[in-house]
Amino acid sequence: MIIQYFTLRSSHIRTLYIDPNDRGQGFGGILLQHMINCAREHDILRIKLKVNTSNIPAYRLYQQYDFQPVELLSQYYSKDADAYRILLLLL
Ligand SMILES: CC(C)(COP(=O)(O)OP(=O)(O)OC[C@H]1O[C@@H](n2cnc3c(N)ncnc32)[C@H](O)[C@@H]1OP(=O)(O)O)[C@@H](O)C(=O)NCCC(=O)NCCS
Repeated sequence: MIIQYFTLRSSHIRTLYIDPNDRGQGFGGILLQHMINCAREHDILRIKLKVNTSNIPAYRLYQQYDFQPVELLSQYYSKDADAYRILLLLL
């Protein structure tokens, strides 16, 4: 499942979720690539999201698609859970 919304020239990923039984088979990458293609078709300039700094699978997935961390959001999820704001420029 992927939930994405558009604001002016930006796209935000709210959720990217693969059933635990289906992980590690490329489905997350397929969904993410589809979302990137969709954003390009709509002339979107940037895709943004936040990811828990401890979420290595998600962070690696986004890295693989050239997303870059632009900000560390301290205690974003809770007292002990920080987030990275990450960004993909589509210029
Ligand atoms: C993150 C998530 C969507 C990845 O989905 P997936 O279908 O398992 O990912 P893929 O099989 O397409 O893997 C693509 C890349 O992601 C990274 N990755 C995926 N699982 C990983 C793991 N357990 N450890 C490290 N890297 C991992 C790798 O870079 C992988 O590329 P590779 O196979 O060439 O090494 C899935 O783990 C998930 O639903 N997690 C829970 C929800 C979540 O955290 N969503 C992100 C919120 S921002």
